[in-house]
Amino acid sequence: MISLKNLSKKFYNGNESQYVLKNINLEIGDNDFITIMGPSGGGKSTLLQIMALLTEPTEGDIYYSNNKINFKKDKHLNIHRRESIGLIFQNANLISCLSPLENLIIAMNTTESYKEKIKKAKNLLDKVGLSKKYNSKVTSLSGGEAQRVAVVRALSNNPKVILCDEPTGSLDSNNGNNVIELLLSIRKEKKCTLIIVTHDKDIGKLGDRRIYLKDGEIHEMGRDI
Ligand SMILES: Nc1ncnc2c1ncn2[C@@H]1O[C@H](COP(=O)(O)OP(=O)(O)OP(=O)(O)O)[C@@H](O)[C@H]1O
Ligand SMILES: [Mg+2]
Repeated sequence: MISLKNLSKKFYNGNESQYVLKNINLEIGDNDFITIMGPSGGGKSTLLQIMALLTEPTEGDIYYSNNKINFKKDKHLNIHRRESIGLIFQNANLISCLSPLENLIIAMNTTESYKEKIKKAKNLLDKVGLSKKYNSKVTSLSGGEAQRVAVVRALSNNPKVILCDEPTGSLDSNNGNNVIELLLSIRKEKKCTLIIVTHDKDIGKLGDRRIYLKDGEIHEMGRDI
């Protein structure tokens, strides 16, 4: 459902330019579970941000369901992002003036009633052990709690594709495992695509497909590595 074709990304630092992604070709199917690992600075977050349609590639194209993404059409991109993509950033990126409950509700599709949204949001927060934090100040949450809110916020619209950039980076192993289990169960239930960038080898091993990204180049690993 997602195709990356001859995709490259170049960043400029002053007069110097650097290719962070080099000629990436990747076919990602519906319901694929892919883990992406590799050294810091290798281009993992950049790749994820392109797949989330937040960053335009310098060369090459990205297709969602055989439709070529046109990065110049903002409205089209926003609709696509909202309807299809759930993104969990390396940092939680919550709206700090809103409570956890409000952060979830504001991210939801407008077709549901407010009552339904509240019920769904509470249910999601319960799943990650935040029943007592519905109305807390986001600024009062620990890093791990904020990350758990960000995880369930990304799931609130039943996305077809869930993109996670180190979703367990700020969590202890217990909460980290809960988050991974939640993501895996959602993928199984909704048959969505799940892509997780991680530095954690144990999480990396879980992927049905494992990709190693180094110096902007991808290498697909066998299951036994
Ligand atoms: N907006 C930008 N402008 C210039 N350089 C950038 C920009 N964003 C990323 N880079 C550079 O691109 C390279 C890849 O960054 P990226 O964040 O994709 O790495 P990463 O694999 O996610 O690393 P980490 O594991 O540390 O999160 C780095 O050298 C980074 O400094
Ligand atoms: Mg990164």
